[in-house]
Amino acid sequence: MTRHLITSAIPYINGIKHLGNLVGSQLPADLFARYQRARGHEVLFLCSTDEHGTPAELAAAKAGQPVAQYCAEMHEVQSRLADGFRLSFDHFGRSSSPQNHKLTQHFAGQLAEQGLIREVNETQMYSVADGRYLPDRYIEGTCPNCGFEDARGDQCDNCTKQLDPTDLINPRSTISGSTDLEERSTKHLYLAQSQIREQLQSWIDSKTDWPVLTTSIANKWLNDGDGLQDRGITRDLDWGVPVRKGEAPWPGMEDKVFYVWFDAPIEYIACSQEWEDAGKGSDWARWWRTDKGAEDVVYTQFMGKDNVPFHTLSFPATILGSGEPWKLVDYIKSFNYLNYDGGQFSTSRGRGVFMDQALDILPSDYWRWWLLSNAPESSDAEFTWDLFQANTNKDLADVLGNFVSRVTKFCRSKFGEEVPKGGTWGEQEEALVAELAKRTKEYEGHMEAMEVRKSAAELRAIWVAGNEYLQAAAPWSTFKEDPEQAAAQIRLALNLIRLYAVLSSPFIPDASATLMRAMQVTDDTWPDDVKTALNHLGEGHAFSVPDVLFRKITDEERENWQERFAGTRD
Ligand code: 2FM
Ligand code: ZN
Repeated sequence: MTRHLITSAIPYINGIKHLGNLVGSQLPADLFARYQRARGHEVLFLCSTDEHGTPAELAAAKAGQPVAQYCAEMHEVQSRLADGFRLSFDHFGRSSSPQNHKLTQHFAGQLAEQGLIREVNETQMYSVADGRYLPDRYIEGTCPNCGFEDARGDQCDNCTKQLDPTDLINPRSTISGSTDLEERSTKHLYLAQSQIREQLQSWIDSKTDWPVLTTSIANKWLNDGDGLQDRGITRDLDWGVPVRKGEAPWPGMEDKVFYVWFDAPIEYIACSQEWEDAGKGSDWARWWRTDKGAEDVVYTQFMGKDNVPFHTLSFPATILGSGEPWKLVDYIKSFNYLNYDGGQFSTSRGRGVFMDQALDILPSDYWRWWLLSNAPESSDAEFTWDLFQANTNKDLADVLGNFVSRVTKFCRSKFGEEVPKGGTWGEQEEALVAELAKRTKEYEGHMEAMEVRKSAAELRAIWVAGNEYLQAAAPWSTFKEDPEQAAAQIRLALNLIRLYAVLSSPFIPDASATLMRAMQVTDDTWPDDVKTALNHLGEGHAFSVPDVLFRKITDEERENWQERFAGTRD
């Protein structure tokens, strides 16, 4: 038994996430967590809301709420939606938790002790009209790189270049629109990542099995000139983790907080403390401290590609630089972007389908299946309503749903609601079992390797094999000449439904639960041996015909949704 620590990138608190966010980290992380649990491993699966920084402050201001209240309410909203999508976090924490405050201050203190924090007097933009400094998203202007006029102080959304507020041409305050800005000198803390560059490079070089998407981004930053510069880890904001050196004050830094990207990954660790403090588990250090048993933990992180630099460089620099025995990530699975109907999903522009809207129109399994089977793995992918309708109707309704419905209804009409007796397997049945055994091994291999699309394709092939068998064996015809043989065929098919429930549960957990209930079984042990698994339900075992497992999406619905989600949400 392995111990799997699994984290998903923690979503910003600034509103409900869209389906592109969901498929870029939380959903594939959930797939992996569910799979590893199903294989009998011990799993700690953590996620939180990312509650600091300018995104939180700006969203709260827009909602007309104090930021603490906004974050508390939005955390509840995001938590409910995570439940709605069946994201099986062991804990869904908050980066604003007292645990994270304390741990972030602890790391800063350690880094300072190791000589890895520099105090730098730097120029920041100060707005006279607003009476404050304007970090990150509080300032916008023209990008010096591409000329985009609405570039933000931290990054240009058009060309993705990382920026400093002082780089912007014609800068303006996003609070008041004022252009009465001055450059003022103020003290900030910098993490001296450059001093750990060699260590980071050899660590990345040792990760030969990581996806190229992950290592190429890390190497680009390590070697790009623009590369591993020391980064500011403090900001002139009210909301955030106050700057302290461990438990002690940090002279000259009284009005500052840590940069959101400094405290957010530390929340992965703090979240396990929140999990323990909430009474959901014990001994968080066993997952995180190599001196307390974490050396045999396998730690996997899931994230979108824009998050990779922070997880391959800044956070490892924090961990390594602390001089303490913290667990480093073993594997980073990163994703490209999912686009929406010819453009980008966008939170700020309200473009695309958001998690609450998706659940309003269809149950989560439809979304889970489509998003995972079309995950933006090797390249960006695109959501269109045509594809969504075509794929879900075919895979879920025509293949899986139809199999379940035909088998259970035919059995009920000819043999009653119990597994029929008599007959034996012939060549066709043995061939099916052999094919399923082979495909199940392939499926396991892809799931282990976190190859999400390949896993979905193999699972689909497993469903298709059952359908093809049913079509060829045609128990409805067999029944007329040889009812015993038809009984053996249907007995196999009913067992196949249970096998499908077990194998499909990481992708479509609700449908799997429905199938298990219909087959009136609770034993969902992953099959060591497919042949044995296909004899699990014995003759005479009672079952019931489930309601329609997946219905078809009509052309009318598709057109309505296409139109309804064409604009922007308010
Ligand atoms: O990109 C984002 O949505 C960030 N909130 C991810 C943070 S992940 C980590 F550092 F915690
Ligand atoms: Zn630009």
